Amino acid sequence: VAADPTFEAILGYAQTRGASVVKVPLTATYAHDLPAMGDAAKDGGVIYICNPNNPTASITPKTELRDFIAKSAPTTMILVDEAYFHFADSADYESMIPLIKDHPNLIVARTFSKIYGMAGLRCGYAVAQPKVIERMRKHQPWDSINVMALSAALASLKDPEQVPKGQQLNKAARDFLMHELDAMGYQQVPSQANFVMIDLRRPVVPVIQAMKERNVEVGRLFPAMPNHMRLTVGKKTEMESFLAAFKKVMATAA
Ligand SMILES: Cc1ncc(COP(=O)(O)O)c(C=O)c1O
Repeated sequence: VAADPTFEAILGYAQTRGASVVKVPLTATYAHDLPAMGDAAKDGGVIYICNPNNPTASITPKTELRDFIAKSAPTTMILVDEAYFHFADSADYESMIPLIKDHPNLIVARTFSKIYGMAGLRCGYAVAQPKVIERMRKHQPWDSINVMALSAALASLKDPEQVPKGQQLNKAARDFLMHELDAMGYQQVPSQANFVMIDLRRPVVPVIQAMKERNVEVGRLFPAMPNHMRLTVGKKTEMESFLAAFKKVMATAA
């Protein structure tokens, strides 16, 4: 059971394993609709909660999530994906890792692909109770992590500058981008991640193509939000290039 829209790769893996995927639309505030997800998972299975959520960059409030986990049926596994944990600074956001000791049905996933800048190097981890880890280990490729990724991950953890610097750079570029988009009259889903979902008020697909023709690659179409563009926050100079192209593209007729 997953939100719609959410990180799609997970749903693909589930289907490959023969599971049926149930999608539950996000709420009006782009949070996970936890009661509806709980109802959809009545017969067990896995509830996938991406927090902050990809592609909306929105969060599901900590108190709602805590209550939901506390009341969940022990037969239903809850997977909380905290890939974007380091970018969230809202008072309503919190990691669910501390709850694992009391909840054998909870798994929290993290990755080195985001704040640590290691996308493509393939390093991440899950936190869960030992019995759950034992069950998952049977499905793990025996050589899933390579030595390059391990060395880079260890070096990242040892570097006290890595996380605060990434947070600071992301926030500065994101604030700049959002300020400029506000000035142009384009609303965005409030972002707690390193990307922004922008309401174009017109279909995104032709805009994606027109941006590409100007050498700016933006996110793909997310069918649940056909008028929104997902944009990764890069360096400030990259955001400036984006804005220059975006202004020209949006000035053309829809
Ligand atoms: C929510 C979420 N989880 C996991 C991942 C993938 O992480 P990894 O590169 O470690 O496979 C991504 C990458 O885009 C993501 O957005």
